[in-house]
Amino acid sequence: MRHDLSTRATEARELMDDPDADIEMLERTYRRFRLVNALVSRPGLLYRREILPRARRGRLRILDIGAGGGDVCRMIAERLRRAGLDAEITALDADARAIRWAAEHDGGAGIRYRCALSSDLVAEGGQYDVVFSNHVLHHLTEAELDGLLRDSEALVATGGVVVHRDIARSRLAYGLYGIATWILSGTLFRGSFIREDGLISIRRSYTRGELASRAPTGWTVRFGLPSRLELRRNDDAAS
Ligand SMILES: C[S@@+](CC[C@H](N)C(=O)[O-])C[C@H]1O[C@@H](n2cnc3c(N)ncnc32)[C@H](O)[C@@H]1O
Repeated sequence: MRHDLSTRATEARELMDDPDADIEMLERTYRRFRLVNALVSRPGLLYRREILPRARRGRLRILDIGAGGGDVCRMIAERLRRAGLDAEITALDADARAIRWAAEHDGGAGIRYRCALSSDLVAEGGQYDVVFSNHVLHHLTEAELDGLLRDSEALVATGGVVVHRDIARSRLAYGLYGIATWILSGTLFRGSFIREDGLISIRRSYTRGELASRAPTGWTVRFGLPSRLELRRNDDAAS
């Protein structure tokens, strides 16, 4: 089926967001997030650009909002450990199914798992040097996006950075993801929501211009290859 990608498909819903989603398929989806993120999200860039230089200056407090299966947090924890650096990493997700799975697969990474909303951490007065998310923005309604950005501003410590990373909607991204996941749909991605939800996610995602027009003052949007967006804010204003 050929979808119109000229506007966001805000009415389309990811299957994994259904509270009655098949739990085995959901857990296979969390398991495959690591591979999908390695292929499309370039989490190594987040580590090299935002985490490593700051971690060299002192012990970091890192928050992943909407951590899902926790694979990006685990990658960061592993790399910091190999570099002999230390950090306090919190994986936050409002979905208890995700946090339970992530905590069960911590593998000694020592991450803190919290089933809560970002607004709950604000209410607790949480402060972090690096606040990030990956593939969360496109899930949110307009009001939820505004809330997430307000929460991020409150949660980032003086001199810290917020980086919300997501897909950029494009026909190329849709086509490439469609081909790659079709090839793997009978093997690695069988019995998961990776293919269907990924295609829905691309349809729900922003273009650079759309996200820039939604960004409040003090936030900037960057485009990255292959089809990525970063909505970011440095908290220099408070320093
Ligand atoms: C598609 S998953 C992304 C998982 C992971 N970040 C990744 O890249 O693989 C989006 C997650 O964001 C969570 N979420 C959305 N808004 C949130 C908020 N305000 N606070 C905490 N979690 C949130 C959802 O529960 C969902 O598990």
